[in-house]
Amino acid sequence: MHAILLYFDEESLPARRLASAAAIEAHRIACHRFPDEELRLRLPDMALPGCLVIYRSLDRPNDKLVELMLLARHAREQGVGRLVLVAPYLAYMRQDIAFSPGELVSQRLVGGFLAELFDSVITVDPHLHRIESLEQAVPVRHAITLSGAPQLAMAIAERRRDALLLGPDAESRQWVESAARTAALEYGTCIKKRHGDCDVEITLPDLVITGRRVVLLDDIASSGRTLAQAAERVLAAGADSVDVAVTHALFAGDALGVIRQAGVGEIWSTDTVGHESNTVFMAPVLAKALAGIMSEG
Ligand code: R5P
Repeated sequence: MHAILLYFDEESLPARRLASAAAIEAHRIACHRFPDEELRLRLPDMALPGCLVIYRSLDRPNDKLVELMLLARHAREQGVGRLVLVAPYLAYMRQDIAFSPGELVSQRLVGGFLAELFDSVITVDPHLHRIESLEQAVPVRHAITLSGAPQLAMAIAERRRDALLLGPDAESRQWVESAARTAALEYGTCIKKRHGDCDVEITLPDLVITGRRVVLLDDIASSGRTLAQAAERVLAAGADSVDVAVTHALFAGDALGVIRQAGVGEIWSTDTVGHESNTVFMAPVLAKALAGIMSEG
């Protein structure tokens, strides 16, 4: 089935890397924002093929969800039979239960919204804590979860051969275990209590930290407080150095400054969210998943 990939300007680099790895044409979506914040999208002047792949990472998600709705509905009107969303970062996955009475469970609601628009969703390290598979949150025909942990593990091992990998909380265990296995590194996970958006408390595992080169590995750095707190604890426990590796480099607001202030040296991330720390490119892994979907005809 003939396919093209559509992307927005600010994601042109990772999107084109994916198109090139998947050997499909890539075309830019022109986006204009009116003074009142409404959006006007324009596609290339061409007939749309049977299969459309849309590349949109969902950091800063609110406007992007509207873009996806406009694009997907337009594509269906134009007769596109198969719509694939490549969202290397999938937003709203952390709000997976009502933490207080009356709270909306955004994971399910946003997942359901995407499932109404797309036939397939490919993403990287979605924050699935209380459910086992992405399909439970995004019920589409192909709900594909990839991971940046093995690639980050290789990047870490090249730079810190003797690293001790630490996950800052229980949820990070899945990524830390996979990375440790890939690069044959020692690992452990901390315990985290969150008291507020920017208020977390970290307890270190019962491991020898003194003299170690510690790398903190997590799926997301958002406010940066989780990594900053963990870094402070690790340095107070006598570590030689502490570096950070994350899949999704959201780094909201003052996050980067707070993490640096805590004593973190290097920061490595995948390119699921564009950031100066991007070290690992996910295009080959995304392309393989895309090829799997397209080979189904
Ligand atoms: C939560 O469980 C995630 O795995 C991250 O640890 C969390 O989202 C990081 O958030 P922040 O950077 O705001 O502390």
